[in-house]
Amino acid sequence: MDSELKPAPETSLVEIDQLDLFYGQTHALHGICMQIYERKVTAFIGPSGCGKSTLLRCLNRLNDLIPSVRVQGQVRVAGEEVFAPGCDVIELRRRVGMVFQKSNPFPMSIYENVAYGLRIAGENDRRVLDQAVERSLRAAALWDEAKDRLDSSALRMSGGQQQRLCIARTLAVEPRIILMDEPCSALDPIATGRVEETIAELKKRYTIVIVTHNLQQASRVSDYTAFFYLGRLIEYDATVKIFTNPALKQTEDYVTGRFG
Ligand SMILES: Nc1ncnc2c1ncn2[C@@H]1O[C@H](COP(=O)(O)OP(=O)(O)O)[C@@H](O)[C@H]1O
Ligand SMILES: [Mg+2]
Repeated sequence: MDSELKPAPETSLVEIDQLDLFYGQTHALHGICMQIYERKVTAFIGPSGCGKSTLLRCLNRLNDLIPSVRVQGQVRVAGEEVFAPGCDVIELRRRVGMVFQKSNPFPMSIYENVAYGLRIAGENDRRVLDQAVERSLRAAALWDEAKDRLDSSALRMSGGQQQRLCIARTLAVEPRIILMDEPCSALDPIATGRVEETIAELKKRYTIVIVTHNLQQASRVSDYTAFFYLGRLIEYDATVKIFTNPALKQTEDYVTGRFG
């Protein structure tokens, strides 16, 4: 093969090493080991309760907000151990942004929603904010729909627009990684399609991890797929491999809809 046609070797941006997580007595994650590759979309799939959201929240320490949580093992983001005592969690959450299942725009204007993260970081220069708002709305494929109504309330947008606004808000602070926890589960098929197109565009610059219960969505948007069951990582491979020729029967049964 011509060397220019060979796929570039993947760069690992996140390394998860022997990760166990407990909610009180509940052992929710068991010895998870995996790498997440830079500028790729990685999908987490598996039946409800298998630990997908829990693992996602480890990547920017959102589980810290739950008092009973205990974690063992390591998660390194860009080489930095996130559970180390010296980790700056605010900075970590800026680098590793999150988009939730239910869009959660703030009750303020479209503009102020996107500018929010920069404002709380102390940025008040209107030109800097204007540029960041436009850049982020464009990247979230929302600029054309929003540019003439930047001062109107975000709550008046449709559900799909609100979810893309939440993506824009995450992008404004220039993260490296974007976590998405079932971002389309409240959206209709057309709005879902728009978000999926946005994801395809974003992966040129960002690393994306998406939890989805929609297997077709995982196969459409992701490069890599990780299948979880009862808190364990069962199989992790290129998405085409997982969906067409998985190594394990358990994976095959799940992706073909025989259980879950
Ligand atoms: N805040 C919590 N407190 C206690 N247990 C939890 C909490 N969140 C999740 N769990 C438990 O951890 C396991 C994994 O849940 P979760 O990560 O939400 O799974 P998924 O996202 O795959 O549906 C489940 O058994 C769930 O009941
Ligand atoms: Mg979940």
